[in-house]
Order: sequence, then C-alpha cells, then structure tokens
Amino acid sequence: MSDLLGAGSPSATAAIPPVSAAEGLRLGWIRRLWPILRPQRRLVITSFLLGVAALIIQVAVPTIVGTAIDQSIASTGQRLEPYLVVLAVLALARAALSVIYRFGLYRMAYRVEYDLRTLLYRHYTGLSFSFFDRVQTGQLISRAQSDVRSVQLYLAVAPLIATSIISFAVAIGVMLWTNVGLTIAAVIALPGVYVVGVALRNRLFPLSWIIQGRQAEVATVVEESVAGVRVVQSFAAEDRQVRAMATAARRLRWANVEQGLIRARLAPLLENLPRIGSVLVLLYGGWLVIEGRLEIGAIIAFNSYIVLLQVPFRFLGFFLILGQRARASAERIFELLDEESEIVDPAEPRDLDHVTGRVEFRDVHFGYGDGPDVLDGVDLTIEPGETVAIVGATGSGKSTLGRLLCRFYDPRSGSVRLDDVDVRDLRVADVRSNVVVVPDEPFLFSTSLRDNLTYGRPDLQGRSTDDTGGPDRAADDADVPTDLRAVAHAVDADRFITAFDDGYDTVVGERGYTLSGGQRQRVSLGRALLVEPAVLVLDDATSAIDVHVEHHIHEALRAARSDRTTVLIAHRLSTITLADRVVLLDGGRIVAAGTHAELLDGVPRYREILASTLVAEEAEGTGTDGSDQPEDAT
Ligand SMILES: Nc1ncnc2c1ncn2[C@@H]1O[C@H](COP(=O)(O)OP(=O)(O)OP(=O)(O)O)[C@@H](O)[C@H]1O
Ligand SMILES: [Mg+2]
Repeated sequence: MSDLLGAGSPSATAAIPPVSAAEGLRLGWIRRLWPILRPQRRLVITSFLLGVAALIIQVAVPTIVGTAIDQSIASTGQRLEPYLVVLAVLALARAALSVIYRFGLYRMAYRVEYDLRTLLYRHYTGLSFSFFDRVQTGQLISRAQSDVRSVQLYLAVAPLIATSIISFAVAIGVMLWTNVGLTIAAVIALPGVYVVGVALRNRLFPLSWIIQGRQAEVATVVEESVAGVRVVQSFAAEDRQVRAMATAARRLRWANVEQGLIRARLAPLLENLPRIGSVLVLLYGGWLVIEGRLEIGAIIAFNSYIVLLQVPFRFLGFFLILGQRARASAERIFELLDEESEIVDPAEPRDLDHVTGRVEFRDVHFGYGDGPDVLDGVDLTIEPGETVAIVGATGSGKSTLGRLLCRFYDPRSGSVRLDDVDVRDLRVADVRSNVVVVPDEPFLFSTSLRDNLTYGRPDLQGRSTDDTGGPDRAADDADVPTDLRAVAHAVDADRFITAFDDGYDTVVGERGYTLSGGQRQRVSLGRALLVEPAVLVLDDATSAIDVHVEHHIHEALRAARSDRTTVLIAHRLSTITLADRVVLLDGGRIVAAGTHAELLDGVPRYREILASTLVAEEAEGTGTDGSDQPEDAT
C-alpha cells in the first residue's frame, strides 16, 4: 500500500524501466480481468473477424493495382475500367468494415471501462474508515480515472495491433509469392523502424509521466489560488501566488520542450527509414524489369506494401509500452480491489426486533492503526432514553467513542454493545440505522436541501432520478412530506429553508458552503433525525448554533421521541446542562460520572477541563452563526 502514496507523483517516473518485449507481453493481469472481459467476448470476436476481412482487402489492393498496370497500361491487352470498378467497390467495402469493427472495439473498451470503474467505486464505498485514514483521496480518484483509462486504451488498441500484425504476415506471404529477392529488399529497413520506434517511446514515455505530474502541479496552484483567493488577498500574497504559478508553469514548459526535442530528432528518422526499402525495391526491381524477369506492376505493388508493413513495426514499441502501463494500472486497481473491509457483517448476524437504545462499552481498548491506545479500558452504560454528555480535554477520545458505537472501527479488545448484543454480531446496516453520529463538521452534498435532508430516507425524496442520463424530472413539489417538514421544524431549519426562493429545492454549493455554519449543522441534524435512530450521538453537532436555539432544538427532539438515547459530546456548558448525566473522559478512561452539579462539586479535574471550555465560550461569545436567533425573536 505504500505504493499508493507515491505513485503518480513526478518522482515516480524515475522508477519506470525501459520497455522490453517480454515485459509488455506478460499478460497474467488479463486473466484477472477476464470476468469483466467475458461478457464482451462476442463483440470482440465479431469485431476482430470484420477487422481481418478489412485487412485482407487492404492486402489485395496493391496486387490488383499492380495487375491493372501490367494488363491494361503497360500492355494494352485488357480494358482498365473493370479494375477501377473492382478497386472502388473494395475501397467502399473496406471503409464500411473498418467503421463497424472500430466501433465494436471502442464499444467493448468503454464498456469494460464502465464496468471496472463501477466495480472500483462500489468497492471504495464498502471499505472501512481505517482504509481511508491511510490513503489519500487524490490517489483513489486517480486510480478510478487514469488507471482505468489506461487499461481501456490498451484493450481498444490491442486488437488493432493484432490485425495489423496479421496483415503484415499476409502481405509478406503475397510478396514472397511474387518475388523473394524483392521482398528482402523491401523489408530490410524494417527492423530499424522497430528499433527507432522503441527508442522514441522509451524516451517519450517517462516524459509523458513527468508532464502529467507537472500538469497536476499547475492545476493545484491554480485551484488553490482561486479557491483560497480570500486568504491570498487578505495576506496581500498575490505576487507570491503568481510566482508559484510561474515556477510550476516553467517546470511544465521544460518537460514539454524536452518532449518536442525528442520527437523532432527521432520522428523524421522513423518516417523516412522505410524509404530505404522503396529505393532498394526500385533499384533491384527496376533491374529485374529491364532484364525482363519481372512486370512493372510488381514494383508499384511493393511500394504500397512497404507502407503497410511498417505499421506494426512502428507501433509495436508503442503497444509494448501501452501494455506495460496497462499492466501497472491493472495491478494498482487490483491492489485496491484486494483491500478488504475490516468492518463486515458476521457470518450469522443476530436480529434486533425493537431496539430500545441501551448502550454499553465493556472494557474497551482501542487505538488507530498501529498507534497507541486512545481508549484504555472504557466502561460505560447508557440506559434507553437517557441523555449523557461526554466531557474531556481535546484529543481525549470523545469522538472516538462515537465512532466505535456505530462501528466505524472495532475495538482492540472489549466490546461495544447495543441492547446487550455485541455490535460485531449485528449486520453493519442494522447498527448504522439504529445508531447515528452527527459530526461537528457537517458534509453536505451539492444537491437540493430536500435531497440532503432525506439522504437516509430516499422514500421521502418525492421524485425519481432518471439514471439513463436524461434530464431529471422535477418533483411536483408544492408538497413537502410532513415527516420532512416536522423534522426541519424541530431542528429549526424550516424557517431559513422556506425563506429561500426555491425552498426545499434550493441547491446548496459545494459541501454546502453556500449555507452558514449553523444552517449546515441544522441540515445535518435533520438528516440524522429523519432516520429516527434509537441512539443519536451529537459530536459537538450544535457548536455553531445559538444557545437559545440549541435548547429549543433539544426540547423538540425530546418531544418527538422521549425514549431516544442521546450522547452529547460537548465543549459548551450550555450543551452539557442539557444532559441527565455527565461522564468525564480522561487518559482514555472514564474517571467520573454524575450530574453536572455533582461533578462540579466533587471532581477538581472536571472543573479544570470545564474552566478552559468556559473561558473559550465567553471569549467567543455565544452563537457563532450571526443569523441565529430563536424563532420568537424574528
Ligand atoms: N483517524 C485517526 N487516525 C489516527 N489517529 C486519530 C484519528 N482520529 C483521532 N485520532 C487520535 O485519537 C485521539 C482521540 O481523538 P478524538 O477525535 O476521539 O478526540 P476528541 O476527544 O474528540 O477531541 P476534540 O475534543 O478535539 O474533538 C487523538 O489523539 C487523535 O490524534
Ligand atoms: Mg472530537
């Protein structure tokens, strides 16, 4: 997996070995792709046969032209017209065949691309949090994009190369049958074409990786300068940003110019080497004709064959590199597909009929990855309907408790239990539909508020999304479902949503950034409530909501479902006082529990930790969201 982090960066280019035939042709990875290729095999075989038919015509044409010259022009024995008609018909037939077989190949390749990408995304979404902790998002995106694409390209090109190799063999056969000596003269320069072709690709290929990396660098600078323009301007750092851009652009320019130089040097050689064959054919063939041992049409035909023959030689090197690259890409894709989620359903899951919401941590030890223990023997029981606040210094493991409760991670030892069943004995989906965590940094999708709120309840979305790629049918949407409206009301979101022109169908910007922090938190809270979980974990989920409104919301929550178990992870005194019971987390353990007043009286450490929280709150003032006012104040 270490490769995951380095691959694709410009420095990775140094590791690309020069291509060799054996490397490019090792095809074990194709076998692994077989389940995806299999459904396409008819398409491939049909296209391939059509391709072979097209190339037989291609090989026949020079001979027909040669015969026409010999029979109708050099000697006036036969009429020329029949030859012309035959040639025209063949040209049309070949064009038609080429269209069909190329279309077939691209269709196949793009279908495979689609299948592979879908497979990969489905796999991503099933992987556990610990995987996403380790791996960069950019890498995952690039695998699903460029790696899938490089496999697709190879699959589209491979049959084309195969047909051109067959056409090579057939053409050589026809030529040998016509004249052996002339054939040798024609092909003598072709190995040179191959050598130069490979040399060219060997130099261009690493550069193309460098160029890709540097294009990404330029894109990153541009993206950051634009996205962060407010920061850039407030520090008057425009010049610095422009210099960074110029540096990135210069590095890209260097690589592009280098590529141009290599092309300029080697491409003319590649194009003109086959002409050696033409000269030799003319020289030796001309002599044969003068001697009367060959007809002149053969020279014309051979000249056409030389053009035909060089194609596989020119592209074989390219093809080998494509193969090497596709294999590397396929292996990177397989590496991801081989990643197994650590959080999976048990072999024999237990069923929970009616979840009461009793939660228990039993001697839980946990740490992230290979890191030290974050939780060091946590014992905590929360009864159904109870509201418990968890208080602790920053980094003490409060959020971690929530993540274990909905089984984003499994403990190293001990158990986390829901209604007295270990969550590892339940289906993951059952756990997640009963325990919902609302994080303090809400993530909204750039869709409508309605879609965001009903994310966990697609049945309330009120419209079907057309997945054939056509336009979405807008909902007949005067009617917002009552469930949805009630929840939006409870979290005090209805008020600001209906103030928008498009109401519930207002589309929010990327990650919901067109909303204020408090508005985002309300939507995120509503989204969780609509699932009607038995256990709700609010991880500082109301931190940007005004204190009065927060109380308001909690009253509404309690009214909606008094038996719901609520865990409040809190930094604010106002939030803590909402709880029936307060638990103090320190050094990975629960060190005290009781009502706020009891802890305040009896536990000095609690006062210490609270003191810093209180100071922070007073310094910030309450509500951080300027628009936050209780409903009756507007
Ligand atoms: N995904 C992760 N990978 C590795 N370590 C992590 C991860 N998430 C948290 N940690 C570490 O685990 C410890 C507990 O983190 P946690 O988020 O539970 O703290 P917290 O009590 O919620 O803090 P805060 O009050 O600041 O939100 C911290 O030391 C943190 O560095
Ligand atoms: Mg936290």
